[in-house]
Amino acid sequence: MSYIKLEELKKRPEISGCETEQALGFAVEQVRRNLPEFTEKFQKAYSENNVYQPTENVDWTTGFWTGEIWLAYEYSHDEAFRAAGEIQMKSFLDRIERKIDVDHHDMGFLYSPSCVAGYKLTGSEIGRKAAIKAADQLITRFHPVGNFIQAWGPMDEPENYRLIIDCLLNLPLLYWASQETGDGKYRDIAEKHIHTALANVIREDYSTWHTFFFHMETGEPDHGATCQGYRDGSAWARGQAWGIYGTAVGYRYTQRTEYIELFKGVTRYFLEHLPDDLVPYWDLEFGDGDEDQPRDSSSASIAVCGMLEMAKYMEKEDAAYYTAIARKILKAVVDNYAVKDPAVSNGQVLHSTYSNHSPYNTCNHYGVDECNIWGDYFYMEALTRLHQNWEAYW
Ligand code: GLY
Repeated sequence: MSYIKLEELKKRPEISGCETEQALGFAVEQVRRNLPEFTEKFQKAYSENNVYQPTENVDWTTGFWTGEIWLAYEYSHDEAFRAAGEIQMKSFLDRIERKIDVDHHDMGFLYSPSCVAGYKLTGSEIGRKAAIKAADQLITRFHPVGNFIQAWGPMDEPENYRLIIDCLLNLPLLYWASQETGDGKYRDIAEKHIHTALANVIREDYSTWHTFFFHMETGEPDHGATCQGYRDGSAWARGQAWGIYGTAVGYRYTQRTEYIELFKGVTRYFLEHLPDDLVPYWDLEFGDGDEDQPRDSSSASIAVCGMLEMAKYMEKEDAAYYTAIARKILKAVVDNYAVKDPAVSNGQVLHSTYSNHSPYNTCNHYGVDECNIWGDYFYMEALTRLHQNWEAYW
C-alpha cells in the first residue's frame, strides 16, 4: 500500500477556468433536471445504484440539496431556482418549529446552506427566522462542564458525552446568529467549542479523531474513538477533511493564529495520505494497493473548499500553495469522479462513502461507493469558489 509523494502531487495539472466553467455549468443543469422531483421533497443522504430517491425533510443532510439549489441560483440568476429555494426554506421553518429530527448538533449542516444562504441571497425573513431558531436549538446541546456541544443522543449520559470533528462546520451558524441578533451568547458557545474540539481531536501527528469523549463530572478530556472510520487510531478520510475546513473556519471566526498551524498540519496529513489519483479512500489507512476499499470522493471536495477558504486569510506564498493544490485535487474529481451523463446518475459526484463496513465502525453502514448529498454540495461549492467571488454560506 502506498501514497502519492508531495513532490509528485505538485506536478499534477490544475483545473483551468474553462474546465471550471464547464463542470459548474453541467452541475447547475443537473440541479435543474432534478427540480420537478425535488422541490417539495429533498434528495436522500445517499444514492442507491447512483440514483437519489426523494425524502421528506428529515436526517442531517437535507440542507445540502437546498444548498445546491442556491449555488445554481447564484450561477444562473434563474428565478426557477429561487422559487424552489423559497419552498424549501418554508419546509425548514416548519421542521424547526415542529422540532422534527433536530435532537442532534447538525443544525449548521441543515440551516447554513439552506436558510442562511437563502437569507443572504434574497433577504428572506423565513430563512432568517428558521436559521435563528436552529441556532437556539443548537446551543441547547452545549455542556459548560467540558465546554463543548454534544453531538448525538440524549444529553447527560456518559456514552453520549462527546463531540465529533464534523461539528466545526455547524458553528458558523452560531456566529451568524450573533451577528444577526446582536446577542453574543451564540458566538461565545461556538468559540468555547472550537477551542475544546481543536485541543482534543487533533493528534500529535496531525491525524484526527472522529469523536472525543469527556468526563461527565469533571469535564476533563477522556478518550478519542471512531464511529465512521476504519478503526479508533486511524484517520477517517472525511473526518480529516472536516478538520481541514473546520480549522479554516475556526481561524476565520476567532483569528487565533495557532489555528493556522493546525490547518497546515491536518492538511499536510491529508495530502500525504492521498492515492495516486488524488481522491482518498474512505479511511486514510488505505492507499494505492487497497483497491478493494471504496473511495470517499466527498472528502476531496470538502478538503478543496477548506483550502480555498483558508487561502483567503494567508500570506501570498501560502495562499498560492494551497490554492494550487486545491485546483489539482478538484481537477481530479472533475475528470474522474464527476457525473458526466444524466442517464448514469441524478447526482453530481460518484464514488463517495457515507459509512463503510469495518470491524470497528460503530455507526450504521450505508451509502458506500455511491453519490452522497454533501459530496455533491461541496463539489459545487468548490467550483463556485473558483468561478466567482463567493460569499460563503458558512
Ligand atoms: N457529519 C457526518 C458525516 O460526515 O458523515
